Amino acid sequence: MFHYIPDVVRKRMTYLEDLDRKHRLGNIPSQIRLRQVPRETGKFLAIMASLAPEGTYLEIGTSGGYSALWLALACRKLKRKLTTFEILPQKVRIASETFRTAEVEDIVELVAGDALEYLDDYRDISFCFLDAEKEMYRECYEKVVPNMTANGILVADNVISHTDVLKDMVEHALSDQRVDSVVVPVGSGLLLSVKR
Ligand SMILES: C[S@@+](CC[C@H](N)C(=O)[O-])C[C@H]1O[C@@H](n2cnc3c(N)ncnc32)[C@H](O)[C@@H]1O
Repeated sequence: MFHYIPDVVRKRMTYLEDLDRKHRLGNIPSQIRLRQVPRETGKFLAIMASLAPEGTYLEIGTSGGYSALWLALACRKLKRKLTTFEILPQKVRIASETFRTAEVEDIVELVAGDALEYLDDYRDISFCFLDAEKEMYRECYEKVVPNMTANGILVADNVISHTDVLKDMVEHALSDQRVDSVVVPVGSGLLLSVKR
């Protein structure tokens, strides 16, 4: 999967990595910054997505589409589709450009709007990457988990970097008997939950 990343995908990944680096160095408002996952997290996501059972693949928080490109590698391999949600119009524009130039528009559906308004419409969720505002994680978790397939995989980012906001949500997931969960120290810290 990683040894044959198409040139158009690799080129767009490099472009977004450079832009994200510039955003992190500059004094740029958080609504504009891409705030995307590091490469190592992208690879972890692609591996998890490639191991997920058949079903609906979701991403909550697209930004410029960087993590979605990693997920698209797994989806292309498995002939599956990804639906990703982004609320900010300026990020929707960058993500649309990402999916067009990386030639993954046949794999990735970008939904412009508040993910919380759409999540109840999805069933048989076999993979979900949760990476939006930390204050909405618990609500997303409660909408996604009941609609996950057996062995479906939920990954949530920033659970180590944002312990202050996410401590209760992580403790809840660790003791939630509907899932088996563990915190994985990759990137900013990932919560990995598998539906039972
Ligand atoms: C941390 S960034 C996502 C980074 C992206 N996953 C990546 O690694 O390339 C979080 C994104 O979630 C978006 N977001 C915040 N609240 C949202 C909501 N209610 N519905 C959809 N997207 C939302 C933000 O606008 C922002 O672009």
